[in-house]
Amino acid sequence: MSRPLRKVVFPVAGLGTRFLPATKVVAKEMLPVLDRPLIQYAVDEAVDAGADTLIFVTNRYKHSIADYFDTAYELEQKLERAGKKELLALVQNVVPKHVRCVFVTQAEALGLGHAVLCAKPVIGDEPFGVILPDDLIWNKGPGALRQMTEFAASEGAGAIAVEEVPHEQTDKYGIVDAVPVNERAALIKHVVEKPKPDVAPSNLAIVGRYVLPGRIFELLEKTRPGAGGEIQLTDGIAALLAEQKVYAYRFDGTRFDCGSKLGLVRATLHFALEDPSLAEATRQFVNAAKH
Ligand code: UTP
Repeated sequence: MSRPLRKVVFPVAGLGTRFLPATKVVAKEMLPVLDRPLIQYAVDEAVDAGADTLIFVTNRYKHSIADYFDTAYELEQKLERAGKKELLALVQNVVPKHVRCVFVTQAEALGLGHAVLCAKPVIGDEPFGVILPDDLIWNKGPGALRQMTEFAASEGAGAIAVEEVPHEQTDKYGIVDAVPVNERAALIKHVVEKPKPDVAPSNLAIVGRYVLPGRIFELLEKTRPGAGGEIQLTDGIAALLAEQKVYAYRFDGTRFDCGSKLGLVRATLHFALEDPSLAEATRQFVNAAKH
């Protein structure tokens, strides 16, 4: 796995039930954090990691994601005629010119492992990244996926992003049992999907970033439905561990769980406080709300 990472998969075919009724018609990944949809933060991170091919695994209700990355002729013409160059650049540069977007359908939401498997025909047998856009990870320096890609390439291994979570929350995540090799990386011995706190091997939880070899596809093809009747990516990774090294990687950055309402609020406040035109008013609002 020492080749550079070129392809990144975005599994975005989930139902997004925690944001109903909005997600009846708005894809969860199109919910904005300030003025940018969640998917934009994920795509920027993939491009930062070196990707030139972005593979979106969508479903029939999520045309808005493809529309977002398509050319908006009428809008662009209007902005051009009005001389609104900055806005035009904003609309035209959602992905750099050298990057191509590929859309694959997951006909039925059969689980994250199944969604990743749907990208097999586009990826073939090369290392690739996976980003779950609802885990928004922000870092001033290199993005989380770039950090992981560089580490995985140097080791010729796979890498999975992990974060420490409170012990009582282990049953919400895939949890790793791993031996530290340096301050960021630990060699994974095994992974367990959503263990109860009393049987969890650690509190290191898998979050939405992966660097995986093409071999994972064959293993996912053999994976039977696991927790929740879904084909779990974690089960495919468990099979991979019997064959190759996979590291748990504690990335440098802040994760916002934007699959939950509180996480989306936190991310929005964070980026508002980062924006010089909004920071002061946001701070005043938050301080006033304390009283
Ligand atoms: P979640 O567990 O967050 O599910 O999926 P969800 O449907 O998106 O949201 P809720 O829980 O109903 O609110 C984790 C990731 O896996 C993708 C989702 O789109 C999300 O990015 N996924 C999940 C698929 O693409 N297909 C699936 O069959 C399941």
